[in-house]
Amino acid sequence: MIKIVYDIQVYRDNLEYIIKKDDLVVELGCHVGNSTRIIAEKALNGKVIAIDNSPEATEAMQSVRDNYSNVQFIKADVRLHETLEKVYKYIGECDVLSVDLGGGYHPDTTFKVYFIWSSTLKPKKTIIRNRGLLDFVSSSVVDEDIKSSEGWLESSGDAGIPPRLKEFKLWSNKL
Ligand SMILES: C[S@@+](CC[C@H](N)C(=O)[O-])C[C@H]1O[C@@H](n2cnc3c(N)ncnc32)[C@H](O)[C@@H]1O
Repeated sequence: MIKIVYDIQVYRDNLEYIIKKDDLVVELGCHVGNSTRIIAEKALNGKVIAIDNSPEATEAMQSVRDNYSNVQFIKADVRLHETLEKVYKYIGECDVLSVDLGGGYHPDTTFKVYFIWSSTLKPKKTIIRNRGLLDFVSSSVVDEDIKSSEGWLESSGDAGIPPRLKEFKLWSNKL
C-alpha cells in the first residue's frame, strides 16, 4: 500500500493507523521528532530509523531517543547514496517507509527519494507527505492497468531502479 497525503495531521493519523507494534519503520525527514514519537509509541517492539539533515534535529532527536530506546537517529542527506547504503547494510528491508521532506517540498525530489529508497528497502507500506504528488495522483486519469500492492513499485521488478539514477550517483550495483 502506498498512501499519499499533504495535511500534517492526516499524515500523523495515518502513521497511527498503519504502524504495528513489531514494525521496522524508516522515517525520512523526521525534523524534531514530533511524528517519530508517534511512530516509536506504535512500534514499541520494533525499531524506527529516523533520518534528517537539519541542524535542529540533532538535539531534539536525542531527547526522543532518551524516551524511546527503539529509535535510532541518523543525521544525513537522504538524497545521497551513502545514506541509503548505510541504512540498507544495517536493516536490509523495512515494514513501513514514511517520507516527509516538507509537504510543499519539490515533488520531483520527493518521488526520486521515495523510488530509490522503496526499491531498495521494499516496504510493505509507504506513506508520503507531499502536496505536489497528491495533486498529481488525484488529478491523473489512466487507461492502463499497471499497479503495485506493496509499499514499493514491485510491478516494475528490478527495473524499478532506472539506469539514469545510477548516473546521478544515487545508486550503484554494490547494493
Ligand atoms: C516538514 S519537516 C518534517 C516534519 C516531520 N515529518 C513531522 O511530522 O514533524 C521536513 C524535514 O525534511 C528534512 N529534509 C528535507 N530534505 C532532506 C534531505 N535531503 N535529507 C534529509 N532531510 C531532509 C528537513 O530538514 C525537515 O526537517
